Amino acid sequence: MKEQFERLQTEASAAFAAAKDAAELEAAEIKYLGRKGEMASLMQGMAGLPSHERPAMGKLANEVKIAIDRALAERKKELEAEKLGKLATEEWIDLTAPGTRPPEGHLHLVTDAIATVTDIFTRLGFTRVRYPEVEWDWYAFEALNMPKDHPARDEWETFFIDAPEHPKLGKMVLTPHTSSGQVREMQKGVLPIRMINISKTYRRQITQRHLPMFHQFEGMMIDKDVSVTHLKGVLDHFAREFFGPTRKTRLRPYHFQFTEPSFEIDVTCDVCGGTGQYGNAKCKLCKEGWLELGGAGMIHPNVLKAGGVDPEKWSGFAFGWGVERTMMMREGLKLDDIRHLYKNDFRFLRQF
Ligand code: PHE
Repeated sequence: MKEQFERLQTEASAAFAAAKDAAELEAAEIKYLGRKGEMASLMQGMAGLPSHERPAMGKLANEVKIAIDRALAERKKELEAEKLGKLATEEWIDLTAPGTRPPEGHLHLVTDAIATVTDIFTRLGFTRVRYPEVEWDWYAFEALNMPKDHPARDEWETFFIDAPEHPKLGKMVLTPHTSSGQVREMQKGVLPIRMINISKTYRRQITQRHLPMFHQFEGMMIDKDVSVTHLKGVLDHFAREFFGPTRKTRLRPYHFQFTEPSFEIDVTCDVCGGTGQYGNAKCKLCKEGWLELGGAGMIHPNVLKAGGVDPEKWSGFAFGWGVERTMMMREGLKLDDIRHLYKNDFRFLRQF
């Protein structure tokens, strides 16, 4: 039995020393020191010894147990140190190395243009507002001096929504222009007004140059003695800020039901510098030096009245046009198809 104990000690120590990792060491520990392990079965065997031999054997068993425990503990320590040592060589991180940047996006062209437009007008004291995209006929047309069957309404190619009519405000529509915000703004009842309303607008059109959903921005100023001169000043300021310091605007007589007088606004062409000539030829972009921006005018008294504003005391101007077109004019973007803007194709978007 003495030999058996001694052999157990040698074998166990050798097995621990040979264990290459914590799992192997644990397996050896169970084999020799476990509840049903070799140490335990030798101890059980001691019960069969004559009683005078037991104390000496018990002492030996104890010494063997202590030795095996120590061997196990030592190997555990070694393995732990080895693991840490490997960590230092295999898994080290250079804390001074530059990090990997996550992919970075940028604003969509149209969002960026909206931010620029907002900025320009905010600095003139205009407040950015938004009004419903799902609108009532009354705000989109009727309050803007366009009675029910007025032919001018056909120009807006409106989407009507299949919903019950409002008893006073009529049909539900997807707003075809930001002008629907004019009367809504007046109804807030706070004068004077300087608003810039930028929102999605909808028309029944889809071609290479027209989208069923696009954005417009609408400026409106109402105060005492506002005149066309103020309108012209604000538009010129916008043209310089948005397109560049040399750009000018002109007002061309036009017709809208909700403004009187009404104008179309043109801005000098970037390519020919407003001359209409490019070398010896006519400018191909504009033909006569000017590019069309959008509509404007002095707010019609009927519209002021619809918004609860006394036209005897107050006057104002409004202007409005498409964000996408204006943005493309600034960027010199000649898209063969305007729908590229909303296809979410990275090959297109990443160019900007
Ligand atoms: N709402 C008009 C359009 O969509 C433009 C406009 C706005 C005209 C404000 C005059 C005043 O065509």
